Amino acid sequence: MENITISKLTSWKKNKKKIAAITAYDFSFAKLFSNQGIPVILVGDSLGMTIQGHNSTLPVTVKDIKYHTQSVRKGAPNVFLLSDLPFMSYFTSTQAIQNAAKIIQSGANMIKVEGGKWLITIIKELSERSILVCGHLGLTPQSFNFLSGYKVQGKNEKDANKLIEEAFLLEEAGIRMLVLECIPALLAKQITENLSIPVIGIGAGNSTDGQILVMHDLLGITDGKIPKFSKNFLAENGSIQNAVQKYIKEVQTGLYPDKIYSF
Ligand code: KIV
Repeated sequence: MENITISKLTSWKKNKKKIAAITAYDFSFAKLFSNQGIPVILVGDSLGMTIQGHNSTLPVTVKDIKYHTQSVRKGAPNVFLLSDLPFMSYFTSTQAIQNAAKIIQSGANMIKVEGGKWLITIIKELSERSILVCGHLGLTPQSFNFLSGYKVQGKNEKDANKLIEEAFLLEEAGIRMLVLECIPALLAKQITENLSIPVIGIGAGNSTDGQILVMHDLLGITDGKIPKFSKNFLAENGSIQNAVQKYIKEVQTGLYPDKIYSF
């Protein structure tokens, strides 16, 4: 597979080529996903739930992310690899820089941080030191206590305007990619059209520049609790390889996520 860079992904946005992304946490799945043509992999702190069995992402540490980033990078040398900075690992610029450096040294191309305005200085400081940063707005799982659960965000005008403003401010601060999680499809469309960086959605409709799914959701390993926006691609496609290819195709053609998977 060709080497995927941030400038390539940004040009895909300009050329309206959709980006299919997926989470992975180990060598074997990373290799399989990359071999099927997945261009972007996220070592998400969702590993707290999918791999470690916690009920949130909060216990995940920088050491955990480093370990899984190293494994994924070995399996997928050419993908654009995004790794989460876990809960409370970036509450000051110094801390963010030190922890981001460890994760980048483990093989990530970019780190992802959850939150809005409060991150502006931290994003500037990371970007000035050549660390690529992805923002994450909407439902931010590291704040699930504060948000009183995993709920759709930006449903009223005030919250929607706040998200539009924060997306703009984060781009201005230096993020080079943005994840929008669980927000109304129309709001995600508006944000995507207003930004020049790639916007990747999860539960944010099909007008974003790409989609991301947690691999366990895509493969139906959900203990019967599949989120509304997720689709079990393995159910009708016979093998993991076929399921991933179908996912890529449906993202690229805009078939997934259609209305039943959107808010
Ligand atoms: O941790 C994760 O897997 C994520 C995705 C849900 C975007 O942040």
